[in-house]
Amino acid sequence: MDQNKILQQVFPEAKIKFNNLTIEDVKACNRKGIFTIFGEPSWNGYRECHEDMRFDFRVLLNHILDKMYPNQNSSHKKQFAKMFSRIKRSNLKVVELGCHQGLLAKDMLRRFDFIESWTGYDFPSPIERTVVEDKRYKPIILEKHFFKTDLPEFDVFVSSHTFEHLSYKEVKRTLRNVLGVEYILLETPLTKGGQKWIGYGGAHVLRWGSNLLKDYIESLGYKNYYSGMRNWVLGFRRIK
Ligand SMILES: C[S@@+](CC[C@H](N)C(=O)[O-])C[C@H]1O[C@@H](n2cnc3c(N)ncnc32)[C@H](O)[C@@H]1O
Repeated sequence: MDQNKILQQVFPEAKIKFNNLTIEDVKACNRKGIFTIFGEPSWNGYRECHEDMRFDFRVLLNHILDKMYPNQNSSHKKQFAKMFSRIKRSNLKVVELGCHQGLLAKDMLRRFDFIESWTGYDFPSPIERTVVEDKRYKPIILEKHFFKTDLPEFDVFVSSHTFEHLSYKEVKRTLRNVLGVEYILLETPLTKGGQKWIGYGGAHVLRWGSNLLKDYIESLGYKNYYSGMRNWVLGFRRIK
């Protein structure tokens, strides 16, 4: 699908074409008042064309949305702390998808000495605003989809409030890219049976329910060892 059409669908009032748009333009738009140029996003429009968005389009769109909604701190740190406490193994290496500014990593690294390294992946805009000073933290800008990215050696895969921004096909590919990792720790605000997100005011696209997500990960050879907050928070240990 033409990426200009997608931009129009996500921002019906946009006066700019994707082909001519750079991150520098977005920064300039921000100085002028970004809303007057892009208007409010149409989230249903976003959902309809999500699958057709090219990676470079997603990077730019994320830059725009990051300017509009810069503050993200949704992960429940105590829940993650409980899941990490049950692992408690020295030299633990963590990889996170959708790390944003690194707030979850910052909290877990402060609590747990047994974490040796934490590598966080995200789009450029949130990574450029990283707030973690701990030397064990390494923020990485995605140059292609996470599911196509070569990952370092790691023991724990973490993702908080990010899977719901992926289609179920992307979730499957993401899990395939981390398959074999010993622990998978997720926080995903999904209802039990799934939902289409119609009318939801945000970039949520995943139609799976928390039950399906749990069943799918179990089918890959993992045991669910922690559930919290009505299955928003799920921890898995590899059994095969
Ligand atoms: C709602 S925020 C959650 C941030 C943080 N993890 C938290 O729990 O507060 C979603 C994060 O996922 C990132 N994200 C969304 N779609 C992504 C994708 N396809 N690949 C990588 N990161 C993505 C966004 O840039 C953002 O940092």
